[in-house]
Amino acid sequence: MKTIIEHIGEVVSKAFEECGYDASYAKITISNRPDLCEYQCNGAMAAAKAYKKAPFMIADEVVEKLSGSSMFEKIESVKPGFININISAGYLADFVNSMSEKEKFGYEPEVTNKTVIVDYGGANAAKPLHVGHLRSAVIGESVKRIQKYAGNNVIGDVHLGDWGLQMGLIIEELRDRKPELPYFDENYTGEYPAEPPFTISELEEIYPTASAKSKDDEAFLARAHEATLKLQSGDKACTAIWHHIMNVSKADLKKNYDNLNVHFDLWKGESDAQPYIPDMIQSMIDSGLAYESQGATVVDIQEDTDTKELPPCIIRKSDGAALYATSDLATLVEREKMYHPDSYIYLADKRQELHFTQVFRVAKKAGIVKPDADMTFLGFGTMNGNDGKPFKTRSGGVMRLENLIADIQDAVYGKITENRTMDQAEARDTARIVGLAALKYGDLSNQASKDYVFDVERFTSFEGNTGPYILYTIVRIKSILAKYAAEGGKTDNLKLLPPVSASEKNLELALVKYLDVMEAAYMDKAPHKICQYIYEISNVFNGFYHDTKILAEQDKERKESYISLISLTKDILLSCIDLLGIECPERM
Ligand code: ARG
Repeated sequence: MKTIIEHIGEVVSKAFEECGYDASYAKITISNRPDLCEYQCNGAMAAAKAYKKAPFMIADEVVEKLSGSSMFEKIESVKPGFININISAGYLADFVNSMSEKEKFGYEPEVTNKTVIVDYGGANAAKPLHVGHLRSAVIGESVKRIQKYAGNNVIGDVHLGDWGLQMGLIIEELRDRKPELPYFDENYTGEYPAEPPFTISELEEIYPTASAKSKDDEAFLARAHEATLKLQSGDKACTAIWHHIMNVSKADLKKNYDNLNVHFDLWKGESDAQPYIPDMIQSMIDSGLAYESQGATVVDIQEDTDTKELPPCIIRKSDGAALYATSDLATLVEREKMYHPDSYIYLADKRQELHFTQVFRVAKKAGIVKPDADMTFLGFGTMNGNDGKPFKTRSGGVMRLENLIADIQDAVYGKITENRTMDQAEARDTARIVGLAALKYGDLSNQASKDYVFDVERFTSFEGNTGPYILYTIVRIKSILAKYAAEGGKTDNLKLLPPVSASEKNLELALVKYLDVMEAAYMDKAPHKICQYIYEISNVFNGFYHDTKILAEQDKERKESYISLISLTKDILLSCIDLLGIECPERM
């Protein structure tokens, strides 16, 4: 349905036209001076130039035309030529009522039903998930949900890093540790026991050890490179070990992502793209797009409009090995073939910007995707510690995601058990939900491209712009509604009456922004806009709550109107947090 701003705009446009001015001047915005008015139109200022008239005269004429309208509580012209508008209580209540009745509160995005691939998560198999992957998972999950909500057919792919040097390092480390394994037998035939030759905890320790070793043991590094190449050319023993690594690692990754409430439709990885690589490279060579440069095969990506020089994209190294970009390109070949997507959204650290520029340009030049394919790279900033440097553990190492989550959940547990008695199991479960909310909201409330400081104390606070504060607001509404239901209050077909207090009107004015916010969050792929909105809703709700005796209200219709208003507030908040991938507990 149309937004309230659009409705006001139509009425004001008509007035501009009737006064002899172009309708396009009637642009309405939310007031940037809420102390003076709720909405404003500055069109008379712009029209003044075109019509060579004083802006105030134009504003006056338009206001004169609209003075009898039931849509406005107040419409006035103020010098030098602004039009200040307050909406009428009746009109506002009617609008809110119609939002309550509609599916998705009346949100009807224009462009829908597209197939969108969201490439996020991006964990590397056999390497522990660290906080660097947290942002990709959290932001990606929200971006994916926003796309779905807008009516698109969305495919989320974790796109595992499962084909790199880490595999060769693990294979060689395993050879040193367990030479008796059948895979290291020269005559290995390709049969292997179902039992993996390591547990997940062993695997997690094997990679960092091997990686450290490769830094000062050149021979070992050379062996790892060789094993990686062997794996990539289909060697049976290496492939068998690789399968083990993948099975063990994937099971663990699934568990971790499940704990984060992050869910993928596809569990594909770089390895799935490999079969497409030879033909892809050959056709780029045949078409003259790719050429040899210092033994490597490269594609130029520089465009006339670039302000700086961009290096060519290397698609094959001199030893024949494929690179990160090669895998991403071949993945596009597969995705086009299997899913025919209309658009792509990639999430990765913003330091990978050049990589994605190269991949997108080569994909278009090579005709892997359509020349006008809609491809977005959402690069995110770094999560820093309180010292402003990339987040580390106390001992200086890279913090594991599991530990980070446990820390924040423990902090929340401490808070919720501090001043009240709650059954221990319930308190743990609540801390799990609220802790995740603290973590995710702390991340999502910042514009993704910015760095932010991970601050457990601040994120877990029940006050301020935090996840727990938003959840606390929802839980508070739930508890009022539960009491109301326990009193036997009527709950269906409640009608909202025109607001009588300023705080009640403020809440409604905030709620009606929903349609604009959803559109902006969708178009800009910006979960932080939803965070801003629900923080505002929570603040104005709490203002209303402190001003109003909801359950003690004696007038039955007025009380029902309050209940209808707070139910809608709760439903909108719940729908918004779901788009952020955040859940809400029953109590907290
Ligand atoms: N595995 C990569 C990393 O850890 C991220 C993958 C991002 N997605 C992609 N299609 N390249 O940095």
